[in-house]
Amino acid sequence: MARITASVYTSHVPAIGAAMDLGKTQEAYWQPLFAGYDFSKQWMKDNKPDVIFLVYNDHATAFSLDLIPTFAIGTAAEYTPADEGWGPRPVPKVYGHPQLASHIAQSVIQQDFDLTIVNKMDVDHGLTVPLSLMCGQPDAWPCPVIPFAVNVVQYPVPSGQRCYNLGKAIRKAVESYDEDLNVHIWGTGGMSHQLQGPRAGLINKEFDNAFLDELIADPGSLALKPHIDYVREAGSEGIELVMWLIARGAMADANGGPKPTVKHRFYHVPASNTAVGHLILENA
Ligand code: DHB
Ligand code: FE
Repeated sequence: MARITASVYTSHVPAIGAAMDLGKTQEAYWQPLFAGYDFSKQWMKDNKPDVIFLVYNDHATAFSLDLIPTFAIGTAAEYTPADEGWGPRPVPKVYGHPQLASHIAQSVIQQDFDLTIVNKMDVDHGLTVPLSLMCGQPDAWPCPVIPFAVNVVQYPVPSGQRCYNLGKAIRKAVESYDEDLNVHIWGTGGMSHQLQGPRAGLINKEFDNAFLDELIADPGSLALKPHIDYVREAGSEGIELVMWLIARGAMADANGGPKPTVKHRFYHVPASNTAVGHLILENA
């Protein structure tokens, strides 16, 4: 049987990808940020998954106002890093896992979550920057990745509660797959940031750290937080944080099992306009 053994949470700021691609990670501005991921890169090597289920958001790259899927699962064999205006990032192609992805689609849709099936899409910084932060700059990513895109760009966006319940359904789906696979689930985006309007540049350390505390200790209560609280407290783009609840809902304790172990926690302000938060949780 396949198992979800760990979850990873991290921000996805595009400038982080640019800093890596342009060899700037040791510059004074960036060094403290990347130092927070040294543990994580080693942890990835020591705990190499067979598949990463990567929850992220597309930023009007693969999708646009023409087509806005709330939840979209990638069932393709491969995904090309997108050109977001400066050419595609010089990072490896992302290989998928069509068999497991199709199984998860079948199971999760039968559990009443209406997923959009995606057989062709490019992946933007929402997906590639977390991979870069966790894996560094390898010639190939360490394992297949199933992209799972969530609409947090155009209202209406899904509630925290729905995301948390979806995580539970994903756990059931993975556990009903026959092959022995070690699966990690990642929740990405956030933390507090606002890129537009009079409050552009907003960062809220108190909110972010309380979010991390509650995500670890009491995700069921955190899932009840309404959208308006994210927008007021964490800025208009802070709503990306609801995606972390999908990964958290897929952990054992959300499904009647034991509490996870916190392997790593990191918080750094700022990276570009954003507060960077990062957690690694392992199931017992
Ligand atoms: C920034 C952060 C994001 O989440 C994003 O999608 C784009 C830009 C930023 O801080 O610059
Ligand atoms: Fe973003």
